[in-house]
Amino acid sequence: MLRFLTAGESHGPALVTIVEGLPKGLDVDVSGLGAELTRRRHGYGRGKRMSIEQDEIEILGGVRHGKTLGSPVAVLIRNTEWPRWREIMSPGPGAAGNEVTRPRPGHADLAGMLKYDTDDARDILERASARETAARTVAGYMAKTLLARSGIRIVSHVISIGDIVAKTSVPEPGEADKIDADPVRCLDPQASGEMVEAIDRAAEAKDTLGGVFEVVAHSVPVGIGSHVQYDRRLDNLLAGAVMSIPAIKGVEIGDGFEIAATPGSAAHDEIVRVDGTISRETNRAGGVEGGMSNGQPIRVRAAMKPISTLMQPLRTVDMTTGRADQAVRERSDVCAVPAAAVVGEQMVAFVLAAEVLRKFGGDSIADFETAVVAYRQRVADRTGG
Ligand SMILES: Cc1cc2nc3c(=O)[nH]c(=O)nc-3n(C[C@H](O)[C@H](O)[C@H](O)COP(=O)(O)O)c2cc1C
Repeated sequence: MLRFLTAGESHGPALVTIVEGLPKGLDVDVSGLGAELTRRRHGYGRGKRMSIEQDEIEILGGVRHGKTLGSPVAVLIRNTEWPRWREIMSPGPGAAGNEVTRPRPGHADLAGMLKYDTDDARDILERASARETAARTVAGYMAKTLLARSGIRIVSHVISIGDIVAKTSVPEPGEADKIDADPVRCLDPQASGEMVEAIDRAAEAKDTLGGVFEVVAHSVPVGIGSHVQYDRRLDNLLAGAVMSIPAIKGVEIGDGFEIAATPGSAAHDEIVRVDGTISRETNRAGGVEGGMSNGQPIRVRAAMKPISTLMQPLRTVDMTTGRADQAVRERSDVCAVPAAAVVGEQMVAFVLAAEVLRKFGGDSIADFETAVVAYRQRVADRTGG
């Protein structure tokens, strides 16, 4: 079973990721890992912290001479801002200072203060912060490396920011660099420009913006996931993983919500034979039928709510005085949809890697590849592909 755990606070000394269940012999490239973490930091609309902060990575276990050992992989990401936070976030004795007593609507602050019985929302927000998604990126990067060995490629792009909606088609893996080069990771140049302007306007108005992104997984073999139990259905696993990203409030697979208003005759992907090969002319299902991949590209869309830390704060109550007040202001992003899309890639990659490993197993990467090739061949023989 492939699994990962993360630990660490946003302004603590470091984040830690432990990934267990990777086969032996998978390449782990520190510079590739660093590049993936950089992708998560970028995107127009992110706060100043993203340009200050560097991700200093150290592999602590599970890798020897650039390859996994089959044992748990442990990775440390040092917080380069730690010296400034040493006192406030000290794991040993220290002075808290500047306690956060005015919870932000839309953040974890109030529910966490009440649940964990604290007057200082910093005890909560430090872990609720999306900084934790840097640690997830470590696991996602390893998942992507494994998926690449089975021919699976993952790409994401931004579909909308605020009310600006891009005209898009499903991006191919070859377009990944072009998407990354765009300030908002959008393939429609006109919409991209308008999105940047919308973010500027929001920043000027001390407001924030959300949006929608899509993650696409190409060349996923048919039959990943299963129909036999609710917790083995691939759509369940994908939706849960993507929904776990902070600020994601809606997830759809394929044409999702739109298809609810479509008659059945126009909602499905007819099965046809083209030049002897069984295939589909459409992909409304987004590559998943009956909880299993169906061999089409997997498309997962996610709706991100606007960032809840506002420079023009919303109304709240100070939890120590009980009086009406304004929510606390932390250094914050105006829009993080492009970065969230990168995190979406990591979560989709991790789910697929776990399910691919469940299907093909293999203690070594060579065993894994052999099983994948044999299975792909058997399916191709049956479908004429
Ligand atoms: C990549 C990324 C960056 C984020 N940046 C911020 C931020 O700068 N400020 C903020 O208040 N929330 C930010 N969020 C969202 C919060 O982490 C999230 O709203 C909060 O933890 C409450 O969880 P919920 O929105 O899922 O209910 C970000 C989310 C993601 C995915």
